[in-house]
Amino acid sequence: MVTLIGGGHSVGVAHCSLFRDRLRDPAMDPTLKARLRKTCRGPNDPSVFLDQGTPFRVDYAIYRQIKSQKGILRIDQNLALHGSTSGIVSRFASDRRLFGKRFVEAMHKMGAIGVLTGDSGEIRTNCRAFNN
Ligand code: HEM
Repeated sequence: MVTLIGGGHSVGVAHCSLFRDRLRDPAMDPTLKARLRKTCRGPNDPSVFLDQGTPFRVDYAIYRQIKSQKGILRIDQNLALHGSTSGIVSRFASDRRLFGKRFVEAMHKMGAIGVLTGDSGEIRTNCRAFNN
């Protein structure tokens, strides 16, 4: 799970509405927090890169960021804070190859899950809830 979340969130953007609570987190890196506050003051729910270092590369950089309190989403930041996941976060943060290997394995597993298609499943409009 640490592999998938961090790897998936090592590219792409997050909307301010999904991490607004983080802007009041006293533990967040102050420079990042100030930048996010400024961006999120804009209209139409602005978005920012999930990986503030290498946003166009699937890599281990996000693990280094969350170890320095620079996670955007709470779920990402919590990976570095929680006892059950902080160990693997530290290992990925210092071992680019290990992360790469694990991410490939995780994506293979995901590919074999057997996604429901047609009337058997649905693509959610909002990931948090069934469509109806
Ligand atoms: C390849 C895998 C993944 C990709 C590409 C991905 C991508 C994203 C993106 C782009 C967002 C921001 C959405 C927006 O702002 O509109 C997001 C948010 C989020 N993701 Fe992922 N993600 C992945 C895997 C995961 C996994 C495995 C989990 C948890 C088990 C997860 C949990 C979350 C959560 C909690 C949010 C915040 C959304 C909310 O609070 O509703 N993600 N993800």
